Amino acid sequence: MKLLFLGPPGAGKGTLAVKAVELLKLPHISTGAIFRSAIAGKSPLGLKVKGIIDSGQLVDDETTIELVKERLALEDAKKGFILDGFPRTIPQAKALAEFSPIDRVINFDIPDSGVVERLSGRRVCRNCGLNYHIVFSKPKKEGICDACGGEVYVRDDDREEAIRKRLRVYRDQTAPLIGFYREQGILVDVDARPPVEEVVENFKKALGL
Ligand code: AP5
Repeated sequence: MKLLFLGPPGAGKGTLAVKAVELLKLPHISTGAIFRSAIAGKSPLGLKVKGIIDSGQLVDDETTIELVKERLALEDAKKGFILDGFPRTIPQAKALAEFSPIDRVINFDIPDSGVVERLSGRRVCRNCGLNYHIVFSKPKKEGICDACGGEVYVRDDDREEAIRKRLRVYRDQTAPLIGFYREQGILVDVDARPPVEEVVENFKKALGL
């Protein structure tokens, strides 16, 4: 199954993806995670996108489309995938339809107030990328990842100004994709407001699992 996670920043896409990978045995492909890994490795791609991402803007379509096209051509994505964070613009969605049409789109339904609360309290493992939250899911030892012992930090784009910018960008450029996929009859809404366990159940129902 070729599955797409669509929703505002901080809706819980990455958190649900961890559970969905276990359930569906499909690779989780997150453009945000690929960019962050390039930034950490100081590769040419990382150096190019760091300022753009930290300020809450989108990386250009050409770079992002090429990156995803190459990633989806790898062997592990042949049986299907969970695509998270791509497409984010109508041109990206049209390009994806050409090189890898999607079966189902999960739309994470949550108001702005919910995402601001989640993003402003988010902490992330610098090593394995696992998500935590200062209220909803704290690591057992403060500042240390339960899974790998890595350092737990605040993402540079989780500062207040960048959060506001990301929400504006989402409304202007990404939210139109909801109508784009709804018209194709492949979009399912999932209530992303409740605690994680409940969102997982909503997701399973949406897919008929
Ligand atoms: P990306 O990494 O994709 O960021 P995002 O879409 O803004 O999504 P987030 O990772 O912020 O949130 P999430 O929905 O995964 O929420 P999470 O599970 O972490 O992209 C980063 C940047 O890269 C973009 O801004 C852009 O610059 C660039 N980029 C990426 N893709 C691009 C593209 N296609 N085109 C151009 N540029 C691109 O959860 C958030 C918090 O809430 C966590 O603390 C978590 O513990 C908590 N939480 C989650 N679920 C729940 C719940 N149910 N109850 C309580 N707390 C919860």
